[in-house]
Amino acid sequence: MKYGFDFRQYAEASLARRLDDIMTKHHFEDPMDLLKRIVQDREFFREILPLFTISTTEFFRDPEFFRLLRKKVIPVLKTYPHTNIWVAGCSTGEEVYSMAILLKEEGLDERSTIYATDINPIVLKKAKEGIFPVETIKQFSKNYTEAGGTHSPSDYYTADYGFARFNPDLRENMVFSEHNLVTDSFFTEAHLILCRNVMIYFNRDLQDNVLRLFSSSLAHRGFLGLGSKESLKFHSAGVDFEPLDEHWRLFQKKNLQLMKAHPHHGGRA
Ligand SMILES: C[S@@+](CC[C@H](N)C(=O)[O-])C[C@H]1O[C@@H](n2cnc3c(N)ncnc32)[C@H](O)[C@@H]1O
Repeated sequence: MKYGFDFRQYAEASLARRLDDIMTKHHFEDPMDLLKRIVQDREFFREILPLFTISTTEFFRDPEFFRLLRKKVIPVLKTYPHTNIWVAGCSTGEEVYSMAILLKEEGLDERSTIYATDINPIVLKKAKEGIFPVETIKQFSKNYTEAGGTHSPSDYYTADYGFARFNPDLRENMVFSEHNLVTDSFFTEAHLILCRNVMIYFNRDLQDNVLRLFSSSLAHRGFLGLGSKESLKFHSAGVDFEPLDEHWRLFQKKNLQLMKAHPHHGGRA
């Protein structure tokens, strides 16, 4: 906890694999030597932090999920004067730019704010820059089209010496911030939270804490999108949510006022 990061409740198998990778990459034979170096050398810790966390991501990941957002969530968001969207565990930003494109096409860009957070400052810096290797564009174009995009994918970036620079206007309503889902508390009141492929690395207790944080951060009847391998089943905090689409892991916060008044509707114990 010296540096404010707490990995004790990350799923053990995944953490063990990460540690093995770090030891190999930095030529440590004894885990105690690695630990000593981490404690003594903050710069080294910052260097290896990205290796502790998996930052794999893509534009319009699970395109069908974005179709679903368009169909079921966007029409509700359109009824609000302003919408806050929290992308928790945003990695290098592909998901955030995908969301910004969706909002723009739905005419919501000027009345929404996307809060993009991650524990890892290195990926956040990349996300803020909005410059991606040109190789990712093929996949961006494919997923964008499958996700129901209504323009040409090339409307959103300029190719530039092996990189694709996403249009700066997409960034106008983005706010990037370091936030640790394990140790930090309430971040913002949101109408939609996306936290996809992040909790998969947490153990059950930690997942429960994070779900509680999301429940209290969501506005009345707010939406929560999880990754395709993540579920609310068997979580005590799961009772706060009802599924809108079980397969694509899209949930809506229940009317908790109603649940308090009528506990037989399935309120928390
Ligand atoms: C596999 S990526 C998922 C990226 C994106 N949400 C997606 O679905 O494509 C997981 C991200 O979660 C972040 N992460 C891991 N633990 C975290 C924590 N405790 N708080 C906030 N972010 C965390 C990692 O730094 C990484 O960028």
